[in-house]
Amino acid sequence: MKTLIKNGRIITAVDDYNADLLIEDGQISMIARTIDIEADKIIDASNRYVIPGGIDPHTHMDLPFGGTSSSDDFRTGTIAAAFGGTTTIIDFAVQYHGQALNQALDVWFAKAEGKAAIDYAFHMICTDLPDSRLPEIKDLIRQGITSFKLFMAYPGVFLVDDGTIFKAMTTASEAGGLICMHAENGVVIDVLVKRALAEGRTAPKYHALTRPTKAEAEGTGRAIALAEMANSPVYIVHLSCYDSLRKVIEGRDNGIPAYAETCPQYLFLDYSYYEKPEFEGAKFVMTPPLRDKENQEKLWQGLKFNDLQVVSTDHCPFCFKEQKELGRDDFSKIPNGGPGVENRMSLIFNGGVVGGRINVNRFVEITSTAPAKIFGLFPRKGTIAVGSDADIVIFDPNEEMVISAATHHMNVDYSCYEGMTIRGVTKTVLSRGKVVIENGLYVGSQGDGQFLKRGLFNSPK
Ligand code: URP
Ligand code: ZN
Ligand code: ZN
Repeated sequence: MKTLIKNGRIITAVDDYNADLLIEDGQISMIARTIDIEADKIIDASNRYVIPGGIDPHTHMDLPFGGTSSSDDFRTGTIAAAFGGTTTIIDFAVQYHGQALNQALDVWFAKAEGKAAIDYAFHMICTDLPDSRLPEIKDLIRQGITSFKLFMAYPGVFLVDDGTIFKAMTTASEAGGLICMHAENGVVIDVLVKRALAEGRTAPKYHALTRPTKAEAEGTGRAIALAEMANSPVYIVHLSCYDSLRKVIEGRDNGIPAYAETCPQYLFLDYSYYEKPEFEGAKFVMTPPLRDKENQEKLWQGLKFNDLQVVSTDHCPFCFKEQKELGRDDFSKIPNGGPGVENRMSLIFNGGVVGGRINVNRFVEITSTAPAKIFGLFPRKGTIAVGSDADIVIFDPNEEMVISAATHHMNVDYSCYEGMTIRGVTKTVLSRGKVVIENGLYVGSQGDGQFLKRGLFNSPK
């Protein structure tokens, strides 16, 4: 099967030029100014960008959490991702107490098997790591699960202590793996939550007021200090505020291999969303919470100057009806998380490139190339080059769209960005050379997506 993309403007993290591109057997086989050969399918990309498919390294499909389960499974969530120009997700498998890491992995393999519309990989969330289990980390790395998330938050559920973090860092880095850190001081947060509830403060806004930026900054600083002691890299997930970013900048300035992602919700939304009437603030209950607006421009600067390397979504949707409503009388019972996998590429293009904050190469880098490098998928994914997988997005940089739950494809009854007009729209999406989104329709088949065995941690810069 030969597919020819003609007349596009090819943009990678470093290139920007007009050329034709030939795809054979799922891979890019030729790039030239003009390619005139017979092909089974010809796509005209005139006036459009041809960019590497987005890589979202932080999603939670079908995650049991907060007494319910995230509302997108691997079928609905990956179709929605594809509509938004994302062609690879890295989801989080969860090890529960007493489970072997391989047992946990099998559960997530079963959740994804035969369902995904795009390629997927897994990180492993570790919650129970006695010394006897540490060799399992190296075993998973050999199986292509090369990154591990640890939590400093959620005592009694996910939290692991500093000794465990230090040992996991040492073990993972010896084998070329990477520790991803949920960096919030969950012990202090627990005290604040209990105090708030005892005083009758139960509304959604107290989720944010009991998780101060200082708690995140303390966790971030501690994670980086532990990484320095363990002589290991560390990747801070869902960084939300300037207090934490300063810790990353300080660590990087001191030569510690600290990396971090932020998410669209922290770049576009702010604390005031919790003040919405009628319990609507619950839609924005996610962890870390939305912060005061002045943090947003600092995060954009972090992306521009490479103190932040990646924009992920932390896509973890729960419907407002019946799921978020579980916490009507108690904010601590609102399932934590929000939807976003479909909106990331357009939001970051609009806020970043159209907004004049980053250039188009940096847009590709933070949404695709850097996650591919950090998480061991490059150069198979994350770029447009001969021999790379033909995960390609044809993107119209001038078309506008209005984000709405009425038109999105995520299986969730609200959008965090309802009514927002953005410029930059995904038009056609190819996953390993197969067209999966065309003319506003999903045209793939269930189970097209394959599990990706990832390579070792690869420092991007
Ligand atoms: O609120 C969030 N972020 N839910 C998903 C779990 C996590 O901590 O990433
Ligand atoms: Zn987290
Ligand atoms: Zn998450």
